[in-house]
Amino acid sequence: MSNPILTLSHLTKRFDELLVLDDLSLTVHEGEVVVIVGPSGCGKSTLLRCMNALEEIQGGEIRLHGELVSKSSKNLTELRQKIGMVFQSYDLFPHLTVLENIVLAPMKVQKRSREDASKEAMALLARVGLEEKAASYPRQLSGGQKQRVAIVRALCMHPEILLFDEVTAALDPEMVREVLDVILRLADQGKTMLIVTHEMQFARAVADRIILLEAGRIQEEGTPEEFFDSPKTERAKKFLQTFTFERKRLEQPQSQN
Ligand SMILES: Nc1ncnc2c1ncn2[C@@H]1O[C@H](COP(=O)(O)OP(=O)(O)O)[C@@H](O)[C@H]1O
Ligand SMILES: [Mg+2]
Repeated sequence: MSNPILTLSHLTKRFDELLVLDDLSLTVHEGEVVVIVGPSGCGKSTLLRCMNALEEIQGGEIRLHGELVSKSSKNLTELRQKIGMVFQSYDLFPHLTVLENIVLAPMKVQKRSREDASKEAMALLARVGLEEKAASYPRQLSGGQKQRVAIVRALCMHPEILLFDEVTAALDPEMVREVLDVILRLADQGKTMLIVTHEMQFARAVADRIILLEAGRIQEEGTPEEFFDSPKTERAKKFLQTFTFERKRLEQPQSQN
């Protein structure tokens, strides 16, 4: 196995009385794509937010290349740059153009020149088919285009690991594919990624490892083949059944309206 990039050891996260993460440990290795699945409210977003020290934790630790990531880390800004994050809501600045949105952090935080950052931004935009949208404003883009810009913005910071939190959940069905294709290509390029998704076919295609999070813990973990074709735990079987049921329902011929 290649080098560990991100290591979570014995994480405990509570919101007051609510225990969301219960002694959870997880290591992501260089070039690995880990997909996290689990029922709504099981703590997937909270887990991703903890990785960036956006949430206080009550126990355990998070290390990026061995360096402690916590709210009290002196070099937290530097560490956060290495952990790229893309959310369900794109969070683009509405008053900035696509290009300005992308180069803002590389210039402000990484002190790169406008010329250098813009050049890279344009090359990345071309790779996701959005070169001609550089001067557009977010409101002029479709949801799928905005999400691709958000991915480019994260990539332009050269993160060591990319975290994706249900990035297609808010998109119309016809735009889901274009965003998932971008992520699949990043996986082909060997990017280290941790992805939360409800798109099971995509999970199967992109993941090296799939993790089921439920009741604050990793309940099952395996390759896509192991996870989908021969789940070991009752929880995993039950979780997968809900998806089979949904697919069957969708495949039923609709009654005439
Ligand atoms: N800021 C918060 N304050 C209190 N409870 C929260 C907060 N954020 C999330 N929760 C609770 O923590 C649990 C996990 O939430 P979340 O991580 O968003 O789940 P998921 O992303 O898996 O749907 C839920 O019960 C949710 O209501
Ligand atoms: Mg969530």
